[in-house]
Amino acid sequence: MLVLGIETTCDETAAAVVERRDDGQATILANVVLSQIAEHAAFGGVVPEIAARAHVEALDLIIATAMAEAGRDFGALDGVAAAAGPGLIGGVIVGLITAKVIALVHKKPLMAVNHLEAHALTVRLTDGAAFPYCLFLASGGHTQIVAVRGVGDYVRLGTTRDDAIGEAFDKTAKLLGLGYPGGQRVEREAARGEPSRFNLPRPMLGRQDADFSLSGLKTALRLEAEKIAPLTHQDVADLCAAFQLAVVEMVVDRLRHGLRIFRERFGVPCALVAAGGVAANEAIREALLNLAAQEHVALMVPPPSLCTDNAAMIAWAGAERLAQGLCDGLDSSPRARWPLDQVGAPLPGPRPHATVTADGAALSSHSSLVGDRRGGEPRDCGPKAPHTSISTIDPFRPAGEEDGVSSNTVPSAVA
Ligand code: KG4
Ligand code: ZN
Repeated sequence: MLVLGIETTCDETAAAVVERRDDGQATILANVVLSQIAEHAAFGGVVPEIAARAHVEALDLIIATAMAEAGRDFGALDGVAAAAGPGLIGGVIVGLITAKVIALVHKKPLMAVNHLEAHALTVRLTDGAAFPYCLFLASGGHTQIVAVRGVGDYVRLGTTRDDAIGEAFDKTAKLLGLGYPGGQRVEREAARGEPSRFNLPRPMLGRQDADFSLSGLKTALRLEAEKIAPLTHQDVADLCAAFQLAVVEMVVDRLRHGLRIFRERFGVPCALVAAGGVAANEAIREALLNLAAQEHVALMVPPPSLCTDNAAMIAWAGAERLAQGLCDGLDSSPRARWPLDQVGAPLPGPRPHATVTADGAALSSHSSLVGDRRGGEPRDCGPKAPHTSISTIDPFRPAGEEDGVSSNTVPSAVA
């Protein structure tokens, strides 16, 4: 099964082609990411309108590049997947409409994928993880512990009460003058800092639930920084190290409780899994390894470049849904907000959102739009010049700004 994936929910314009075999094994044939860092850097974060315009200008070429790298044409696809949310709505609209056009013109099923579901399922692409597993999902807008019981079957066990962890990394970077994108820069500074110099709080530690809270830590960091301002390079490194250690200890504690709650409700998990941009953090990955050993559970974390936003995960989630007989109508709506536990369980038998005709086209059950327009002339999607350089991801190479692959900074409005 061959699926094209499109990702445009934040500041990465990405397209990928992924093959899923019947035994569930996967091959990434192409994974192209165009980062918009240069366009947003001057503003210290992602500007939604700039992001949407940059997606419009770049997406056709990014898709063409991915298809060329995969060595396949649209006719060879079994389906087209796009992230339909949650995210910055302008960008989501660009990606979803583009996917709808390709699906319509080439008579392919459309999968309107939840971006969080794509993060949640990436470990099945990389490691073939079996259900059920306990997922730690930490990105720029979300921090959750989730029981992943099947495709479309997600039970939230814990969540953040205020900021997401990625957001806290980004705000810390901004406060300390490290700029955007924040997570990788804080991690880099922390590597040469002394964490014990500052005594920062570990919010929620020891509580019986599996929830997170980051705002107290963020405020404590600001107060410490204000006390010693102006900051030297070493002050910044020490503050980053203290912040990162506090986050790591909170994550480990929250996951210990999350795993306990998982076992109480669903039995033994097949694995502890981490996903989302924050899971690219080496200190967090190392701490999870120790935790998994203590808890006697296997740890599975995708390579950093597949933790941060990419389109291979969208293509894969689309393939997983298509393999279950799930696809979506061309009237599927883009969504700024779309909680993971509302994605919905797959239903056996007739497809819940759309039907697939004999020639493979997805027909909406509640819209005549598709039928009216099928057979129309294909739109001219000629390539246009991108804003910045395109990079192809090697999934086994760490993500880094130097190779054009970068993490996102999602403004808190998206959280
Ligand atoms: O999953 P992602 O790429 O985009 C969203 O869906 O939000 O996650 C981006 C978030 C950003 O907040 C970024 O600062 C954080 O992940 N991040 C990191 C690291 N790399 C990315 N946080 C800590 N350490 C990192 N190495
Ligand atoms: Zn993401």
